[in-house]
Amino acid sequence: MEVVIAPAGELARLAADAVEGLLRGNPEAVLGLATGSSPLAVYDELVARHKEGLSFAGVRAFMLDEYVGLPADHPERYRNVIEKEFASRVDLAPGAVKGPDGLADDLPAACAAYEASIADAGGVDLQILGIGTDGHIAFNEPGSSLASRTRIKTLTKQTREDNARFFGGSVDDVPRHCLTQGLATIMAARHLVLLASGRAKAEAVHQLVEGPVSAMWPATVMQLHPHATVLVDDAAASRLQLADYYRQTYADKPGWQGL
Ligand code: GLP
Repeated sequence: MEVVIAPAGELARLAADAVEGLLRGNPEAVLGLATGSSPLAVYDELVARHKEGLSFAGVRAFMLDEYVGLPADHPERYRNVIEKEFASRVDLAPGAVKGPDGLADDLPAACAAYEASIADAGGVDLQILGIGTDGHIAFNEPGSSLASRTRIKTLTKQTREDNARFFGGSVDDVPRHCLTQGLATIMAARHLVLLASGRAKAEAVHQLVEGPVSAMWPATVMQLHPHATVLVDDAAASRLQLADYYRQTYADKPGWQGL
């Protein structure tokens, strides 16, 4: 696991560098897209690079998760968020972005179909991730099986409170259920790039990088991934025991070595 501690703007550029490097080598790469505020600067950076010529025309993309039951036109439905924040701003082909169907009549069947569509695409090359204050990735709340696949989950009170800001501050308006890629689904992506900023994420980041691997802090499963990159600002890094070592490692990183 590589930990990079840097100002937020630099973190977004580093993540965009990783995506751009992937697409330059394989214009038909498969991206994993995350919602939440953490990846937004990355999407802005990729849109800027698209304006300079970076094409997403051959790319397919898979979303991490979706609320259950939000109406199709609801602005906070993750499918609509990704469309607004990223897909509509680049040249992704119509239908190139897929997500779990939180409006399906048969939710377990929708989850199985989603797993199959990721497999049919050959798996995800690079997965962008954020992290919840309780250590969730996608919507894999504490207690999630480390071997989990796409399925329905119940959101914790903490996550619903955290996400109420997107629903006019009303916790009651935040759905109680979601469909989410499982931890094993996420772990099958070939490169994981997680972004976190702000002091509220400091404990989750500490656990993710330095805690014991445990379903209590689901993101800790990333310690078992052979190519995981954790991009954090000073505040999110403030509880890392080995912060000085991570800073030194990054400062001394060989110039030829990308993320
Ligand atoms: C939601 C999403 C996660 C995201 C998390 C943190 O719960 N399902 O994918 O990582 O929020 O969001 P933020 O980046 O806004 O703090």
